[in-house]
Amino acid sequence: MTEQEWLRTGSAATAGGPPPRTTGRVPQWVNRRTLLGGAMAGAALTLLPSPGQSPASAAPRRQGPGAFPFPEHPNGKGEFAVLVTGDAGTGDEAQYAVAAAARDLCEAEGIGLAVGLGDNIYENGPESDDDSEFQDKFEKPNSGIDVPWLMVLGNHDCSGLIPGSGGDPSRGDREVAYAATSRRWYMPDRYYSVPLPAADPLVEFFAIDTIPWSSYVAQLDPHYRWDGPYMREQRSWLEGALRASRARWKVVIGHHPYLNNGKHGSAGSYDGFEIGNYTSGVHLKDMYEKVVCGRADLILSGHDHTLQILEPTARTGGTRQVVCGASAKTEDGVAHFGHPAAWQNFSDHGFMVLKVSGARLTIDAYTVDVATRKATLRHRARQTRPVAGAAPAHA
Ligand SMILES: [Fe+2]
Repeated sequence: MTEQEWLRTGSAATAGGPPPRTTGRVPQWVNRRTLLGGAMAGAALTLLPSPGQSPASAAPRRQGPGAFPFPEHPNGKGEFAVLVTGDAGTGDEAQYAVAAAARDLCEAEGIGLAVGLGDNIYENGPESDDDSEFQDKFEKPNSGIDVPWLMVLGNHDCSGLIPGSGGDPSRGDREVAYAATSRRWYMPDRYYSVPLPAADPLVEFFAIDTIPWSSYVAQLDPHYRWDGPYMREQRSWLEGALRASRARWKVVIGHHPYLNNGKHGSAGSYDGFEIGNYTSGVHLKDMYEKVVCGRADLILSGHDHTLQILEPTARTGGTRQVVCGASAKTEDGVAHFGHPAAWQNFSDHGFMVLKVSGARLTIDAYTVDVATRKATLRHRARQTRPVAGAAPAHA
């Protein structure tokens, strides 16, 4: 079968043929997949990995041998404390400085879990399942932060020939595969959920893949088109998972933000684009508004290299947007938009710590001085009432 014949077959099946039976990652009617770096990048063929399992809810959690265990009990302060980082994967001095400053806080804060909000491996994502970049841009900088890291895919993790294009989502499979051999890196699938504690969840994290809805180029692989099986299934999964969750607090983690005062702007008008199925993020906006807003307490995002704790509003259905993408890079120092913010910073490197108890959800925002590798607490935001409000309060 030629590539063109394959593409026609895939398009026909997606548009009107018999519904493809899929696993959530790879349709079974496909035995080969185009490796496409986007409309401008040309195409090449590659063999597919075996179809993966369904998107993971976290039980049982799939971790590699020797992986650091998930916290199953609150820390000494009665909280689950989570380090939040984003856009960290440069391997340069700033990444090391931010990680060092965060590491100093881990013991005092009782941090038992970490989050990496995408752009984990600049500039184009890993070249293989065991690329040395995993060591240089993740394991070495984060040495000593010995907890599971919930990782999500960023546009730079899924790029082909054009850095940051997001035009080759299949590259994300390498980051999923890497999780099988890392003690820290947790990514059992391209999207997944993790309830804590597993037996009687107080908080549940829903990790999503925002890339095919926000890429700078059109997705030419029909599996990853904005209306293709992968994104339809992810949206359906998230809707069901949020509805079914028994956790008091619900936190969606994904690379691209819903709302954003930084230069990239908000979903539906990313980088000034307001039309088209890609780049603008119009379909991600629709998903956030119809599936997430009013159901999740927080959206944690990166992409913009800034620190923002936005206010929950009627527009968001009470959901709070947080942007935490300054763990290796910074932005231009100014706000480009005016969404109500509790606190925001467009100049400094930094990270955040999310603390969850039955009584409250707390977000601490820290900036980091790269020269001294020291963190300074800049803002603390608290909320005491879950958005959904259905789950009983834990003690
Ligand atoms: Fe990004």
